[in-house]
Order: sequence, then structure tokens, then C-alpha cells
Amino acid sequence: MNKNRLEHLAIIMDGNGRWAKQRSLKRTSGHEKGAETIRDITIYCANHQTIQTLTLYAFSTENWKRPKYEVAFLMKLLERYVRGELPTYQRENIRFMAIGDISKFSDSLRKSIADTEEKTRTNTKLTQILALNYGGRNEVVRAVQKVIDAHQEISEESIGEALDTPYENIDLLIRTSGEQRLSNYLLWQSSYSELAFTQTLWPDFSAMELDTIIHDFELRDRRYGGI
Ligand code: FPP
Repeated sequence: MNKNRLEHLAIIMDGNGRWAKQRSLKRTSGHEKGAETIRDITIYCANHQTIQTLTLYAFSTENWKRPKYEVAFLMKLLERYVRGELPTYQRENIRFMAIGDISKFSDSLRKSIADTEEKTRTNTKLTQILALNYGGRNEVVRAVQKVIDAHQEISEESIGEALDTPYENIDLLIRTSGEQRLSNYLLWQSSYSELAFTQTLWPDFSAMELDTIIHDFELRDRRYGGI
């Protein structure tokens, strides 16, 4: 039997707050530990034989509703991460990209994102995409607008090409922490994704568990509507 080939993996990293609460820590400690998990999982993916793209939901268009101090902390953590990861990206040959509407971010955060994107542009082992101020419906609306502005015909191809994500299909989408919903993430790209849900909270998620989920994915029967 042929195994399914995993090229594009997407993850909804959920449960940082609950992880911290269980330990009587501030929610922000959960986010800090979550950032460490991102590094471990990214390195695993870079060394995986077939994965080419890892798209991570790091900040949604709805996350602005969180308390001010938490949003401010996430912004700082994000900037520290995007700058601080550069040596890892270079060592591991990982390209970094951001998708979503980052126009609301500070100048300095946008500059960090642009710098790291530029410096890692030619890396080839893995593309790590952070979805930032990202919403799936918003992405589709912006893509349709781009097609209209370019006087192109509206079609699946033209809309697909106008999306933020350069790689249209997601093979496997994982959500941690027990919630079983997509929360406006990559709605177009997940049309035929295999879904996997785990109870594990994101800060506790490990390369070992990911490996198990991938083995299960490889054996699934993907029919894309056929028989
Ligand atoms: C969900 O946990 C987590 C997020 C807000 C997105 C992921 C953010 C990180 C992993 C932090 C670091 C990110 C980067 C890129 C440095 P939650 O707060 O919703 O958890 P809860 O549902 O248990 O409250």
C-alpha cells in the first residue's frame, strides 16, 4: 500500500493558557513555553523527509480581543522569536515567511519580520510560515478583491493564486488542546486536509507525538471525493 505523502503540515497551537493555569503560572509563561515548542517542532519538520511547509497559527484576527497586557506580551515575544530564531533558520536551512495582515503591527515588528524573511529567502529544507493577524475569511475576501482588481476571471485557480499562502493545499492539519474546530484558519487550503486533534496542550506537544500523528496520517485512506 502506498503511504500518503505529507508535504504541507498546518498546526493550530492551542492550550498555552491552560498549561500555565495548571501550574499556577501567568498565561504569558504558557506562551513562552509555547514558543520553545515551536522551535522543537520546526526542527523536527526540517529534518523530516517529505515535509516542505509548516504553517503555524500564531496570532488570529480575533486575538486582539485578549487583555491588552497579553496582546502586548505576544507582540514582544513574537519579535524576540522572529529575530532570535535567525541562527536556527540559517543552521537548519529553513525559510521563514509570514502571512496575514501585519499592517497593524508595530514598525519594529514588521521590520523584524521583513528582515528575517529576506535573510532566509534562499533556504530550502523547510518553509516555516507564521500566520499573523490572520483570518481565513479575510484572506479569501482579499484574494477575490485582488482578482477583481487585476480584471481576471473569478475561478478556483485565480483565487487560489491570489491567497497569502504560496502553497495551496494542506495535507494534514493538527489542533492541540482538545478543541475540535478550525477557528477561521486556512479555510480554503484545508478543503481536503486530513484533520488530527490531540488533548495535549501546545507547550507539552512534542516531536515524538507529532511523529505518531504523521504515521497515522500516512496510512489514512485519502479519496478526495473519489472511491
Ligand atoms: C493559544 O493558546 C495560543 C496562541 C495565542 C497562538 C500561539 C502562540 C504561541 C505559541 C506563542 C508564541 C508564538 C510565537 C510565534 C513566538 P491560548 O492562549 O488560546 O490557550 P488557552 O486556550 O488554553 O487559553
